[in-house]
Amino acid sequence: MEGTGAEILGVDITALSRGDWNQIEAAFAAFGVIFFRDQIMTEREHIEFANRWGSIKINRCFDQHPQHREIALVVKDVADTENNGSTWHADHSYDEEPALGSILVARELPPVGGDTLFCSMYAAFDALSSATQRELEGLHAVHSAHHVFGTSRNDVHTSRPADSAPDDARANVTHPVVIRHPISGRKALFVNPTFTIGIDGMSEIDGLALLNQLFEHCQRDEFIARFDWEPGSVALWDNRAVWHFAKNDYPGERRVMHRITIDGCALTPGAQTERSEPTLVQRAGATIAGGVITAAMTGIAEVIDPQKVRQDIEIVSEAPEEEPLTPLDFGPLPPL
Ligand code: SIN
Repeated sequence: MEGTGAEILGVDITALSRGDWNQIEAAFAAFGVIFFRDQIMTEREHIEFANRWGSIKINRCFDQHPQHREIALVVKDVADTENNGSTWHADHSYDEEPALGSILVARELPPVGGDTLFCSMYAAFDALSSATQRELEGLHAVHSAHHVFGTSRNDVHTSRPADSAPDDARANVTHPVVIRHPISGRKALFVNPTFTIGIDGMSEIDGLALLNQLFEHCQRDEFIARFDWEPGSVALWDNRAVWHFAKNDYPGERRVMHRITIDGCALTPGAQTERSEPTLVQRAGATIAGGVITAAMTGIAEVIDPQKVRQDIEIVSEAPEEEPLTPLDFGPLPPL
């Protein structure tokens, strides 16, 4: 199973059957980012959905929802010229344990524009030559938040949570340049243009030269999928599998998104031998082999081509689930 970006249609994520949940988990592991349409979701239900994936990371850098501190407000107002997230990044890569991912819910949208782009770090890694892959697997990269959230930052928002402090004191962290993804078990690049500032053990010039080469490689169109938000849209992305980028192309309009970020874990190098516990994708594979689902999942190049993108999960008989499974509809993503 591979690819990035799948729309899952015909499901209410506030009232999931066990079968739906299993398929959503497997799709998340396989695609790195999943999208839902037509959801009617209160803030409380957003928090409950997030809690199914893990504990919630309280964000210290965005404004918080006045009643629900778990929810960060990602707002661009009519008078703002800048928005949050309009450079390629993976949230919280500067943490010792980078976030698993985020769940973004559209609350107010501009009439046009404001799409979010996602870029597959699996595809970017897979497309490198095996010699380059091997070289990168020996390296660790340095991640920092100082230049983005420290006192010198060029912040577009003035009201941050009362308990937040500038991030100047936070130590830089290192992570493997190539990780073994904790859910899928696949190898992925784990560097990003916003928070990765160097390569451990290399001079600043050499480290940046290597990083810039990698960043250029990663931004190939075939690794990128684009999501056009509609009222009721929800996205859940895995920060260890994709970068994201919020387009700033709606001057004079307001856009309000609610974001919840989920705690992650320390990351292990891609070269490390696979763990003995089966990963979610392996478990999903076993389930498929056992006759629960068959999944025809396409690669990202196909995901961005609407002619080819139907991604069907077909339910076959003899499911050992207690509840009957209802097929989820994996729809296409629009072209870039
Ligand atoms: C973010 O970077 O978390 C925000 C993404 C978006 O607003 O589309």
